[in-house]
Amino acid sequence: MAVKKKKARWQDFFPACFKAEKTAETKKPSIQRISLLDLSSSTISEELSLSLAASNLHVFTLQELKLITHNFASTNFLGEGGFGPVHKGFIDDSLRPGLKAQPVAVKLLDLDGTQGHREWLTEVVFLGQLRHANLVKLIGYCCEEEQRLLVYEYMPRGSLENQLFRKMCIPLPWSTRMKIALGAAKGLAFLHGANKPVIYRDFKTSNILLDSDFVAKLADLGFAKDGPQGDETHISTRVMGTQGYTAPEYLMTGHLTSASDVYSFGVVLLELITGLRSLDKRRPNREQNLVERARPMLKNPQKLMKVIDPRLEGQYPEIAAQKAAALAYQCLSYRPKLRPTMDEIVRVLEPLKDFDDTQMGTFVFTVSLADCNPVKIFPRETTIQGGKEGEVAIISDIKAMKMK
Ligand SMILES: Nc1ncnc2c1ncn2[C@@H]1O[C@H](COP(=O)(O)OP(=O)(O)OP(=O)(O)O)[C@@H](O)[C@H]1O
Ligand SMILES: [Mg+2]
Repeated sequence: MAVKKKKARWQDFFPACFKAEKTAETKKPSIQRISLLDLSSSTISEELSLSLAASNLHVFTLQELKLITHNFASTNFLGEGGFGPVHKGFIDDSLRPGLKAQPVAVKLLDLDGTQGHREWLTEVVFLGQLRHANLVKLIGYCCEEEQRLLVYEYMPRGSLENQLFRKMCIPLPWSTRMKIALGAAKGLAFLHGANKPVIYRDFKTSNILLDSDFVAKLADLGFAKDGPQGDETHISTRVMGTQGYTAPEYLMTGHLTSASDVYSFGVVLLELITGLRSLDKRRPNREQNLVERARPMLKNPQKLMKVIDPRLEGQYPEIAAQKAAALAYQCLSYRPKLRPTMDEIVRVLEPLKDFDDTQMGTFVFTVSLADCNPVKIFPRETTIQGGKEGEVAIISDIKAMKMK
């Protein structure tokens, strides 16, 4: 017999705010997730924020967070985005009973910035309830007067953006890139498959954090939205996200579906394959957008070889690269209906992470970065010892590389 589900109310999740309803609330709370839609605008207040203390999140004082970050010392600075600066901190055994000693990342709202209480609350409401191996763990928060802070598990390898594009470091091997793509895909698949689906809306390399084993975890649900419900095909919203990652139909109409996230996933997969940023303002106008430049090359194996990250020096399994490229091509389809679902993407990526980083390319390309010394490009077969200068091409800037 079908049992009609009781509508979840935010009081069920934060019972401390509703002492008057004690008799009804002695039962175990429903496991259905509270969504932002369940919160009327009047309840999105500081009062609600303070009452989140009853969830499994820790509520820190500003003083405690100053203590663990050495007063937000510049030596603990990890980075800064739209929300505000992020500092590393260390929680020791004595800070809180029941909270184990661990390093954390503390994000502090920039009070002069464009984000505010709403983004902070969205993050707390979503990440406070959703737990998955590929979502970064929110440990707690702080809300004191105007101050808003978030405390996360510390991710030792930082963001994929730093790992993939940082200059002067060993490039990520192909198999690691596929492992990261799979982890991030599982995180998105989890959000889309939740009993109240969530659309992430800001999928990009800087929001994919990496643990010491390169397990990818999604961070920043501050722009997330509850997906369409019932008969709805989409939700209409103000366009939010990051230039270079946003799906074209969402950009043009404001209609948001989980297929918009799939498009952004395709952009990140393309960045992993090519080692290039989705948007490069240093290039001439027509070449700035990676999808426009590279998508047409993904289906043709010969052309594909020309766009695969030259820093891999040909160390990638050709078949797996072709499959990853075909997947990116599909995700980047102009028509949302032609894009795969995140579950399908996980199924395609799962076997790709097991390929060895075997040598397959014909040429070794060593590409200098803008601030490096000029370096040489030479065919793999070229002997350098006593090699003839005529066999060696020299480029001084990555901009000199043309994708044909
Ligand atoms: N949990 C964490 N562990 C380790 N480093 C982190 C953590 N969270 C954030 N960082 C670091 O802080 C930087 C800034 O993160 P943040 O999410 O605030 O900005 P962003 O992703 O660069 O931009 P945006 O505001 O568009 O999301 C990240 O790139 C990362 O290096
Ligand atoms: Mg971020």
